[in-house]
Amino acid sequence: MPASSGRPSLNYHLLAHSKASDDLRHLILEISRAAKYISYAIQTTETGLSGTTNQFGEEQVKLDVLSDTLISRSLVESGSVCCYISEEHEDVVELDSKAPFTVVFDPLDGSSLVDANFAIGSIFGIYRTSDIIGRTPREQVAALYVLYGPRTLLVYTVGGGKGVHEFILNDVGDFILLRDHLGVCDDAKNFSPGNLRAISENAAYGSAVDRWLKEEKTLRYSGCMVADIHHILSKGQGIFTNIGGGPKSKYPVGKLRHVFECGPFAYLVEEAGGIATDGSMPILDKKITSVDQRTAILIGSKNEVKATEKLLR
Ligand code: F6P
Ligand code: MN
Repeated sequence: MPASSGRPSLNYHLLAHSKASDDLRHLILEISRAAKYISYAIQTTETGLSGTTNQFGEEQVKLDVLSDTLISRSLVESGSVCCYISEEHEDVVELDSKAPFTVVFDPLDGSSLVDANFAIGSIFGIYRTSDIIGRTPREQVAALYVLYGPRTLLVYTVGGGKGVHEFILNDVGDFILLRDHLGVCDDAKNFSPGNLRAISENAAYGSAVDRWLKEEKTLRYSGCMVADIHHILSKGQGIFTNIGGGPKSKYPVGKLRHVFECGPFAYLVEEAGGIATDGSMPILDKKITSVDQRTAILIGSKNEVKATEKLLR
């Protein structure tokens, strides 16, 4: 039964509500275990904040490398991961060829914001297959993220209409249910525009921003994709964009990575009733061609994503 607070734990929710298979439930719990260590490391370590060596002259491990190591370890210990793709590795990392899952992850999204004490996060997508090149994010069987802010939150979905659910890390180290069935409504009051430097080369993106300003929408942008998209899921509305500036710009098609940033969020937000596109097609149907593939993304409230898409054409 649920833990003493009366709120279900992540384990109980996966078991009783989502009816996740045992191997998937164990994997998500292993990932959540790594997230607890990352949360603790963010609170307690100076590494990654100050420089490259500590007082003993030892090389300091940056928080994003440490997060990658912690997650990798938990994936190995789960015994159910055949390979993983991480922002910290150029290639697919092979573990156990007989194991069922591939996990894609960004170990610490927005890590450069840590010294400003802004919220940062970890992003995960899970596939029940060994080779995801040539496949699409729609084939994920679960997606989740962890947001390390004033509170540590975990939000997951196993798709298939089972909903998107939010958990909070409590004082004894358990993730317990905070809100179930997060939803994203069709109209947006808030906007969250990433890669704004693209406007100098991409006038249409400038027009989209002008429209948001004219409509007196509220700007909510922190520079961490996890925090900015969590804002949409938490408030139940909004649009987040990261658009490219074209061939001459620093990020021709946008800054974010298809596999371990946009794919998992598209799976989560679509499950919550929103949509995610690259301007012309759903992110969930966009083929994965390489580990570090970038894509434009417009994600959030349906009507706002569609109206913005039109302006960008
Ligand atoms: O991982 C890349 C990232 O840090 C995202 O978390 C964030 O949405 C994006 O970069 C911010 O990009 P920009 O500063 O160009 O808007
Ligand atoms: Mn990132």
